[in-house]
Amino acid sequence: SNGTARAGKSRNIIEKMEEQDKNCVVFYGSQTGTAEDYASRLAKEGHSRFGLKTMVADLEDYDYENLDKFPDDKLAVFVLATYGEGEPTDNAVEFYEFIGGEDVAFSEGASAEDKPLQNLKYVTFGLGNNTYEHYNSMVRNVDKYLTKLGAKRLGAAGEGDDGAGTMEEDFLAWKEPMWTAVQEEMSLEEREAVYEAVFEITEKPEMDADEDEVYLGEPNKNHLEGAQKGPFNANNPFIAPIAESSELFTAKDRNCLHMEIDISGSNLSYTTGDHIAVWPTNAGKEVDRFLSILGLADKRHMVIAVKGLDPTAKVPFPSPTTYDAAIRYHMEICAPVSRQFVSTLAQFAPTDDVKTEMTKLGGDKDYFHEKVIDRHLNLAQLLEILSNGQPWPKVPFSLMIEGLIKIQPRYYSISSSSLVQKDKISITAVVESSHKPNSPHVLKGVTTNYLLALKQKQQGEPEPDPHGLNYALTGPRNKYDGIHVPVHVRHSNFKLPSDPSKPIVMVGPGTGVAPFRAFVQERAAQAKAGQIVGKTVLFFGCRRREEDFLYQNEWDKYKEALGDNFVLHVAFSRDGPKKVYVQHKMEEAAEEINKLLEQKAYFYVCGDASNMAREVNTLLSKIISKHRNVPETKGEEIVKAMRASNQYQEDVWS
Ligand code: 2AM
Repeated sequence: SNGTARAGKSRNIIEKMEEQDKNCVVFYGSQTGTAEDYASRLAKEGHSRFGLKTMVADLEDYDYENLDKFPDDKLAVFVLATYGEGEPTDNAVEFYEFIGGEDVAFSEGASAEDKPLQNLKYVTFGLGNNTYEHYNSMVRNVDKYLTKLGAKRLGAAGEGDDGAGTMEEDFLAWKEPMWTAVQEEMSLEEREAVYEAVFEITEKPEMDADEDEVYLGEPNKNHLEGAQKGPFNANNPFIAPIAESSELFTAKDRNCLHMEIDISGSNLSYTTGDHIAVWPTNAGKEVDRFLSILGLADKRHMVIAVKGLDPTAKVPFPSPTTYDAAIRYHMEICAPVSRQFVSTLAQFAPTDDVKTEMTKLGGDKDYFHEKVIDRHLNLAQLLEILSNGQPWPKVPFSLMIEGLIKIQPRYYSISSSSLVQKDKISITAVVESSHKPNSPHVLKGVTTNYLLALKQKQQGEPEPDPHGLNYALTGPRNKYDGIHVPVHVRHSNFKLPSDPSKPIVMVGPGTGVAPFRAFVQERAAQAKAGQIVGKTVLFFGCRRREEDFLYQNEWDKYKEALGDNFVLHVAFSRDGPKKVYVQHKMEEAAEEINKLLEQKAYFYVCGDASNMAREVNTLLSKIISKHRNVPETKGEEIVKAMRASNQYQEDVWS
């Protein structure tokens, strides 16, 4: 675990709080950085409004056996995201297993019945997505466990819903009554909030950006020194060569990338069904916009040293660095803007009129939605519009580091079989680019457009980049030749049956087919090697046969190996007069699906969570009820039981 990796650091939170003179710790369980961001915001607000002496803490950095000794004049806050199928985030696994463990035991040896956490006062907020079955299960369970152990919650257990797109508003609505409860319990007076910087930024004009110790995008010291050293993981990506890349769509206006990432020599390994994490670089166009609006364009290559003014404040990127490198490689500058952040920024507006407008945006939920959210503006785009392009030099750079999430790797379902190619990982990704009706800009996916630029470079396609995004592909993260990409592997539970003779049914429209290409590739290889391979049924959907029929030429090859045991059903949604979706194809094959499920076939769904995966779930209960002649409620129960026993597996995203 990380305990040993970060040797020398105390894992005792109570000691740490004493030592740093803190009376409130805000723990976060975060996968994509959002929960971490909310945790930082709560810590800041607790301090500036109520004088709490707050610190932020990564759940995996501490042990919890001594929670029974947590002083009753202090407060613990838990900001907890639920990941995937109701799982804790990677950094919260140990905490979750401990606190929810049947034989949870604290330092004094007290058992659960003794209510050992009676001194612990806590607050919780969960981040979830209602399109998933186990909505906010992490915060719900932790809250239940803590209560059961005698701890006292202040305020309601908050729940934010990313599925409904109301996370920010859920958070804002939850926190006011929560603060009131905390104020009462801890006898705190509210004070006039003044901005206090968390980080100190020192410009170093005497240093040259070329000097050896300046980070220009390298994620850590090993990379800075030009050597990659494992183990490669979420804290230390492997900068992998892109061995091959190609375009999968024949449609001119849309792109779908196929890439082969070479992981040989890295000691990284994967098994079929895992995810690959890609660490993106921001588009030059957006970096330029961000630097300009802050008035930093002329100083972009100025060396800066960044340090936490409080020893518990973690600088989210290595230092010394430059403004350009920090923004380009480490700050999530294209993410949606939060209303609270807009409020905070108002005081640094370039003119009084702009300040008035910012204050209005920050205070009025509906107005904010109309002017910011519905128009899909990122921060720099918003500031640019509000000030008519005039720079905002009064904004402290520290506030940008505090207010923006640190850049997050994006996860893709691996589309190759580890049995067939253990040292090469395939990615299948649609390049996101869409013109939303109310937006003045074309919305470009950060990572998929970065991958597209890498592909263009890899193939020697003409520069400058035709999409005008102007990626820096020769920066340190892309040493060598600009066709490397920083990656790591995330293991998943989305797995083929260990016995290949078991039948499988897969549903994966669009790029949801990615892991199923891997599954079919694997089973074809097993069949070729003489193993008995069961029925392998795939439902795929796309718009048009001639446009986006992914891997059209490969399926025949797999069919040669698998024979009649491989059945591919394809739904073309825009080829005929009526939309045909995978669900329609499933209805046509309903009897066969039911028969296979009765033979204990595994059932898999991959792709869009909000509509497709839900509809497939409902349809499957109907198919079962019809063909087994049982009531629909019974069909639903059967599907639930299949999920519980892992016979039904999902790899979905929204
Ligand atoms: P459409 O875009 O023509 O509506 C891959 O994106 C394929 O999935 C497309 O053919 C798309 O059709 C289809 N699709 C869109 N919504 C769907 C849904 N709710 N269920 C199944 N397929 C869907």
